[in-house]
Parts: sequence; C-alpha cells; structure tokens
Amino acid sequence: MFDPYKIRKDFPMYVNKVKMQGFPLVFLDNASTTFKPQCVLDAIEKYYGFETSNSHRGDYDLCYNADVKISETRELVAKFINANTNECVFTSGTTMSINLIAYGYAMKYLNKEDEILLSVGEHASNALPWFEVSKATGCKLKFVELDEKGRVTTANILKTINRNTKLVCIAQVGNVLGYLVDIKEIAKIAHKNGALLACDGAQSVPHMKVDVKDLDVDFLSFSAHKMCGPTGIGVLYAKEELLEKMSPVFVGGGNNVNFHSTGEVNYLSAPEKFESGTLNLEGIFGFKAALEYIEKLGIENIAEYEQNLRKYAISKLKDVPNLKLYNEDADAGIITFNLKGVFAQDLGTYLNSKGIAVRTGQHCAKMLPEFLKDPATVRVSIYFYTTKEDIDYLVDTLKTGGNFLDAYFA
Ligand code: ALA
Repeated sequence: MFDPYKIRKDFPMYVNKVKMQGFPLVFLDNASTTFKPQCVLDAIEKYYGFETSNSHRGDYDLCYNADVKISETRELVAKFINANTNECVFTSGTTMSINLIAYGYAMKYLNKEDEILLSVGEHASNALPWFEVSKATGCKLKFVELDEKGRVTTANILKTINRNTKLVCIAQVGNVLGYLVDIKEIAKIAHKNGALLACDGAQSVPHMKVDVKDLDVDFLSFSAHKMCGPTGIGVLYAKEELLEKMSPVFVGGGNNVNFHSTGEVNYLSAPEKFESGTLNLEGIFGFKAALEYIEKLGIENIAEYEQNLRKYAISKLKDVPNLKLYNEDADAGIITFNLKGVFAQDLGTYLNSKGIAVRTGQHCAKMLPEFLKDPATVRVSIYFYTTKEDIDYLVDTLKTGGNFLDAYFA
C-alpha cells in the first residue's frame, strides 16, 4: 500500500524539514515542478564526482560509459511511454519539444491553406509555437469550443476539424482545469481527417500510464522536472517516419555524419539528428534515476493514490465558505478555485504567509480567462507525496483566513 509518509523519507525537501515563513512547508504546486528524491541528487553528484566526460566524443572508458547510460535512459523513457527508443528525443523540456514540432515539422510542411486546431485552455508552450507557425506560413489557427465545464470534447473536435486541419495540438491534461482529454479518440478523428495529433503530456505523463502506441499520438512532449527529475531535460516522442521528415532545427556537433566545404552535409538519423551540442548529461542521468524511482512506485499506484487524495481534497474544500471551485469533477490532481471577493494573488500571498505553496494567476494559460471570465485563479496541485494532512492544513488555513484581508493585515 502507498504510504506517503514513508515515501517522504526519500525526499531531501522533507527530510531537511524545509520551512517557509517559519511554517513547515506545505508544497501544493506540483503541476509547476516536483521535489526530487535523494537517488536523483545522488545520480547527478555521481556524474560530476566520478563519471565526468562528454558523450559521443571520445574513445575512452568514461565517455563510453556515458554513452551507455544515455542509451539506458532512452530505453527507460521508451518503455515508460511504450515507444521505440529511436522515437524518443532528449530536449530541454516540454516547451522545447513543442517548439521542435513547430519549427522542425510545421514550418516545413504547413501552408496558408492549412489549419491548426487547439484550445483556449492550452499552456503558452502549446499555443505560442503555433502562433509563430501561423505568422510564418499563413496557416490558420482554430480553437475548439470548450464545453460548459471547460473540457475539450470529441464532439467539439468533430465540429471544428476539417480536411484543411493538419495538426491538432491539445494537452492530455490541462494545466489549469485538470480534465483528462480523450486523446485516443481525438487521434482517431485527426487521422481520419488527414491531420496529425501533437499531445502535450506535461501534466499527464508524470501522473498516469501514457502509452503512445495505444493512444496512437503522432507527437508527445513532456518534462522530467514534473516527475521527480531534474530541470532542463525532457522528451519529444514522435513516430519514426515523422522524425525522419523533420528538420533538426538545431545543428552542430553530434548530429551529423559528415559535412564538406561544398556545403554538403549528412545528418544522423533520429534521435541523434535532433540532439546537437553537448547533451544535458547530469539531467539525463538524474532523469534515469527518477524514472527508476517512479517505476518502482508504479505509475498506476501513483494515479490511484492521487485520485483518492483529490476526492478527499474536494470533499474538504467544499466546506470552505465562499469558495468557488472551477473543476470539481476533474480527473487529475489539479484543483483550481477562488475565494469570492479575494484576488487570487492576494490569497496566494496569504497562503504563503502560512507556509503553503500554491500557484496563482493564469498559470501560463493566458487565453483561458476568455472562457473562465475570471482573470486569475488559485491552483493546488498534488503528487504522490502529498498527504491528507497537507490538505487539512490548506482547508483550515482557508477557513481561518475568514475575511482574508482583515486576517492578513491584522
Ligand atoms: N507548466 C507549469 C505550470 O503549469 C509551469 O505551472
């Protein structure tokens, strides 16, 4: 059985009893980033203390060992999402992965007759690259209508998609409302219409089983730091034939077979074609440790634990007077709310003063207020080390805030 208190012993942020504003830290901003277990810190330190070398660039043991570890990490990533290893490209994170699709694929193949379908709920990283593609190619951006709760539904995708749609770019789990989108069905619809599906997996891959073959997505992007890994490392999954068609975007050392003064150049095949320059080796090795850690816990166990904790949190939050919940029945461990009459950022500041870390504002999804009609919200996001006690403390703090401003300035 899943015991978050036991799990916390693996996390220096808990072991070190980190405080905020003099209170034991209650970290409820896991959609933003997650804590790292000691094994991740150890892996990074081991690289710098015992294994330092570059990869692909030497004939000595340290270099060879680094290459082996990169391959092992790629294999772990591939296994984690049920992909082939050559379909997993290391990037700096979800943002870079989506930009690679935009600049390596869409800029090359889309034109002014074409359309890209997205939603107003998308994070900036799954919107702005498409804005740039539209500016450069003249293709049109279309927004699928959200349903009354703010969900992307297959019915609304069907209403908006057409033969001109070339790309459907949707997050599997929205980073503000936390609804799980039926990506498998949307992939079918996209393919029937001759479009590709680019799935932003930043908020889904760390929390649930994501199987690229089962979903039949064409692209999947995600970051290590939202799943206990280091910052600055992430993955772009793409089907092999798409990676072969894409431009590498970044070129330089490590991604070519040869080049000549005539200008002739031969690039390596994917994934190396997309990985020029020295790789983020500490990131990759830390990510390996994070994946092994999560594999050990079991992603299905993580999903189940979070769902139960979410239900608990909702039942408790419903007792808080004047609380407006935006996503009561969402699927992921993201809970978004406001206290009536209190500006979200003020509430965030108040919670901070009691040691509680939440995210407030627009959460990078700056088109979503067009739907919500509220300019800013407070977002609580849990992970497998979040406890009922954390939730109780949040709820009590919200309740005892009373007239928040009075309480805060008292
Ligand atoms: N994408 C991260 C979030 O939603 C930063 O908070």
